[in-house]
Amino acid sequence: MRRYELAPSILSANFAKLGDSIAAVERGGADLIHIDVMDGHFVPNITIGPLIVRAARASTALPLDVHLMIENPDRFLEDFVKAGSDMISVHVEASTHLDRTVQRIQELGNKAGVVLNPATPLGLLDEIIPAVDYILLMSVNPGFAAQKFIETVKTKISRLRALLDRVNPECRIEVDGGIGLHNVEEIARLGAEMFVAGSAVFNTEDPEVTSRLFKAKLANLET
Ligand code: DX5
Ligand code: ZN
Repeated sequence: MRRYELAPSILSANFAKLGDSIAAVERGGADLIHIDVMDGHFVPNITIGPLIVRAARASTALPLDVHLMIENPDRFLEDFVKAGSDMISVHVEASTHLDRTVQRIQELGNKAGVVLNPATPLGLLDEIIPAVDYILLMSVNPGFAAQKFIETVKTKISRLRALLDRVNPECRIEVDGGIGLHNVEEIARLGAEMFVAGSAVFNTEDPEVTSRLFKAKLANLET
């Protein structure tokens, strides 16, 4: 049986009340806190660094899922781990020595994830799959919250699930971008297990209630 996890992305949270925002989704049943790190080079936006990871660490015991959308991620791995990350994912498009990067994340005691942009083929994962803990498939072009889910990613999720079942069944699939209450069940049925949701959680009147609605939909699929 699959274990489905909700990972609200704080990119859409109220940063003036970050602790309250995190506490609300935690009460609503969130499993992970997704933190989007952007450098203005790899993606056309600048967001969060280790300081905010540290602040998030102080306000929750939930695992912190750090998504690095930065060039040269190796330079900053230790800073994020020291700040309190539990999982770190790096883009294949931004990593020259991906195997070394994945090993380093694991040596530092975090789970290691590899991320693919929507147009990046699954074939680039062939050699790294046995070494990683999770694959994050982008279902929007990274850089901004509240974009539309790219439909072609659906077949990519099913194809990845089939590949992982053969090669590394322990490896989990996370999907990020354009996920809401309207499509989360469909995406889960394709084989994804971790669901990032930013605007669909935090841009609602009550993120706690919305998180609970997400979890209820996913719980139905688990039975
Ligand atoms: C996009 C980020 C996402 C973003 C998702 O570059 O990686 O995690 O916060 O936002 P929504 O859920 O609003 O599409
Ligand atoms: Zn993300």
